[in-house]
Amino acid sequence: MKTICYIVAMVAEAKPFIDRYGIKKVDNFFSPLPCQLYEGEVEGTRLCVVLNGQMHGSDLVGCEAASVSTTAAIQRLDPDLIINSGTCGAFRKHGAEIAEVYIGNKAMFHDRRVPGDDNWQTQSIGNYNVWPGSETLAHSLGMKMGKVTTGSSLDMQPCDLEVIETNGGQLKDMEGAAVAFVCSLFSKPILLVKSVTDLCDSGAETYEEFSRNLSRACETLKAANERIIDYLTKSL
Ligand code: ADE
Repeated sequence: MKTICYIVAMVAEAKPFIDRYGIKKVDNFFSPLPCQLYEGEVEGTRLCVVLNGQMHGSDLVGCEAASVSTTAAIQRLDPDLIINSGTCGAFRKHGAEIAEVYIGNKAMFHDRRVPGDDNWQTQSIGNYNVWPGSETLAHSLGMKMGKVTTGSSLDMQPCDLEVIETNGGQLKDMEGAAVAFVCSLFSKPILLVKSVTDLCDSGAETYEEFSRNLSRACETLKAANERIIDYLTKSL
C-alpha cells in the first residue's frame, strides 16, 4: 500500500498514535475546512492522519465533520485505504469489555428515522461494507469483530436501541457509518478500528463512563493501531 489515511475525530484518540510515529502537522493543508493533516512515513508507506478539527474549543465529533474530512482526504490524498479509528460504546450483553479493541465488519446508522417505504429504510440504515481484508486482519491479530452503529448523539434513546437491536449493531459511535458512506461513494476501502470507552447497558451515565475510560481506551487503541500498521505495511 502506498498511502494509508486515518480519519480520527478526537485529539485524545489520535495523539498517542501521532506521537508514536512522530508524524508531523501540515499547516492549513485543508483550509478553509476545519480538518487537520498529519503526515509521515512508516516502512515506505505514506501514513496520513486527518483529524476532524475543532470548533468552540472542542473536537468536531459526529457525522458532518467526519463526512467533510473523509471527502477532503480522499480527494486530496487519494489513499489506498481509509482507517476510521476511534472510541465507541459497546454492550456487556455481547461480551464487550472496557478498552477492548474491535474491527468493524459493517457500518449502519441508528438515528435516522424516516417514515415511508423500504427504500427510505434501506437508505437510512446504510449498512455499508468494509474493506474485504478486515476479517483476515482481525483473525490474524486476534481481534474481535462487530457491526459499527453510528448516530449523532453520545446518549442512547430507547428508539435508537430498538434500531440497533433490530439491525445487529454492536459498536456505537458517532462517525463510522458517515466515513463508510463517503468511502462507498468513491469506492475506497475502509477499515474500522474501535476501542470501547463505555458499556451502553451498564446502567452508568454515558458521559461519565466515557470520560473515566477515555485515556485507557486510547492507549489500547494506539497499541492495536501499531499492530495494524505493522500488518498492513509488512504483509500486504
Ligand atoms: N463514543 C464513545 N462512546 C460512545 C457512545 N456510547 N456513543 C457514541 N459514541 C461514542
